[in-house]
Amino acid sequence: MSYPYQVQTIDEYKAAYDKSISDPEGFWGDIARHFQWKKPWEKVLEWNFKEPSVKWFVNGRLNITENCIDRHLATLGEKPAIIWEPNNPEERVRVVTYNRLHKRVCQFAQVLRNNGVKKGDRVCIYMGMVPELAYAVLGCARIGAIHSVIFGGFSAQSIADRLEDAQATFIVTCDGAYRGEKVIPLKSVIDDALVGNKTVKRVIVYTRTRTAVSMIKGRDVWWEDEMEHAESQVEKEGVVSFPAEEMDAEDPLFILYTSGSTGKPKGVVHSCAGYMVWTAYTFVNVFQYQPGEVHFCTADIGWITGHSYIVYGPLAAGATSLLFEGIPTWPDAGRFWDIVDRHKVNILYTAPTAIRSLMGFGLEPLQGKDLSSLRILGTVGEPINEEAWHWYDEHIGKGRCPIVDTWWQTETAGILISNLAGVTPAKPTYATLPMPGVQPLLVDENGVEVKGNPAAGNLCIRAPWPGIIRTTYGDHERCRQAYFSTYEDLYFTGDGALRDEQGNYRITGRVDDVLNVSGHRIGTAEVENAINMHAGVVESAVVGYPHDIKGQGIYAFVIYQGRAGDPDANRKDIVQTVSRLIGPIAKPDKIQFVSGLPKTRSGKIMRRILRKVAEGESSNFGDTTTLLDPAVVEQIAAGRL
Ligand code: WT7
Repeated sequence: MSYPYQVQTIDEYKAAYDKSISDPEGFWGDIARHFQWKKPWEKVLEWNFKEPSVKWFVNGRLNITENCIDRHLATLGEKPAIIWEPNNPEERVRVVTYNRLHKRVCQFAQVLRNNGVKKGDRVCIYMGMVPELAYAVLGCARIGAIHSVIFGGFSAQSIADRLEDAQATFIVTCDGAYRGEKVIPLKSVIDDALVGNKTVKRVIVYTRTRTAVSMIKGRDVWWEDEMEHAESQVEKEGVVSFPAEEMDAEDPLFILYTSGSTGKPKGVVHSCAGYMVWTAYTFVNVFQYQPGEVHFCTADIGWITGHSYIVYGPLAAGATSLLFEGIPTWPDAGRFWDIVDRHKVNILYTAPTAIRSLMGFGLEPLQGKDLSSLRILGTVGEPINEEAWHWYDEHIGKGRCPIVDTWWQTETAGILISNLAGVTPAKPTYATLPMPGVQPLLVDENGVEVKGNPAAGNLCIRAPWPGIIRTTYGDHERCRQAYFSTYEDLYFTGDGALRDEQGNYRITGRVDDVLNVSGHRIGTAEVENAINMHAGVVESAVVGYPHDIKGQGIYAFVIYQGRAGDPDANRKDIVQTVSRLIGPIAKPDKIQFVSGLPKTRSGKIMRRILRKVAEGESSNFGDTTTLLDPAVVEQIAAGRL
């Protein structure tokens, strides 16, 4: 198999880019033809950013799982689709061929049907990184149910909020998940999330850790029993089949919740056809995937990176995708390098935070690890610092692997700005150039485009690419407000960026109240709401500060009038509250108790000042004359942690 839409030279990139702008419909129509459709589209694109309304491949009908699985069976049936590396390196590796994946996905689709799940129903998936997670995702897509995967680091309360928002009727989970030496009791978290829930009818539980679980009669069933029952329904005389639901190109494929600048996470909705074309196209082009290669994306499927570059993108391209259950530092900091060596990984795609954390262990964990199979390296999720980039290049790529710095977002479905490995030049700390179909621009605070090079400004995108967010679940107005209303007729990313003389983009970070902690997006308002729930807290303000490994750490300024006594114990109570309400991933790194917050006369907290304090600035707070009580600033600065 080869990819007719893979650009292989810089001239081909330029030609593809130009055509994608001058004739987007012709360009994407030519690409979409290489996928399997049940009915062709009538028009490639209809859109306006006012509502917004974006429709790609209008009235086309398809099922993404036929594209990710069935159409490869004749040629790749016995080739590995998924290689699963368990948490414990002593446990047996599982290789899932395309044939096996087909069977499991058909079986699970049948399980969903047996349990009354229908097209359009919302299925929440809360599992560890096991192949069954991929089967669950694809099984939903097979019958047209909308999956909403929730990362294992979210708490019961977060899950409850998401179940409510999505009005989910079905949950797929595991008894527990292995994470390094820990066992996370997933089913028990789900049980807590379901207290008071009125929509969920069934919970299906896959046995991974054999952690004790309470299976509730009439509601909870075991994955293994259900799959066994379904097997005889989908397999007749050795032939496996389960009809793939015919989906409209614009039917929702999944919801994925992400944080914004308001307190409540948004359910980002992606649609079937555009998502498929965009993830496959970007996968094949950014990583320059060659048939037979092993692609290792270290993200969790609970995030968009896992959806797009472990599951859908690679499988749509007939690739071999490595799925890793564990963490980079257990049993030791050589874990990634062992995996690369063992499975002869060709493409490694990870986050700067992981690179920085592994750098801290020095070169010893690399001893004796054969990394010669590596051909391409990638990073995602946050800006990469120069030092980490060079370490990755020198010690992992041995100076011979192109590094792709891929900028994108949950809302964009796939990579928007990146070099194409070995095809377009890399520039350390720069995501570089836009993908074909992507028209970035920089605007100033007034929404005026900053033209010419070099330039700096807020990063916007001018026209839709196939993977653009379609709506926020249950609240379209919120989608308009968040992304399409700041600047007229533009999609606003929330990021600031620089553009160099050659037109390369460097993403500098969020310009809104969203933090990026270890490549995870966390809204400051969300963390504040959680902190404020603690009985002793009067008010709080949360900002980010530079953190050597996490990129950003969470710094909370808290006015506390609760129980007196050991401030550290009080801090722990607050951390525990955040952990309960959002999840361990949102725990503040620092909590400073303050007597007041810097507020304007109209009562608005001046975060700019708090950010400076958190960053370690002890003077030069800029203009503080508009503050109600300028003296509070010095007090806060003096008490900095
Ligand atoms: C935010 C999106 C993209 C999937 C994982 C995160 C930041 C992402 C880069 C990069 C600099 C980056 C941006 C963006 N970001 N990639 N290569 N360089 N910053 O998805 O949780 O939706 O977060 O991550 O700030 O807006 P997400």
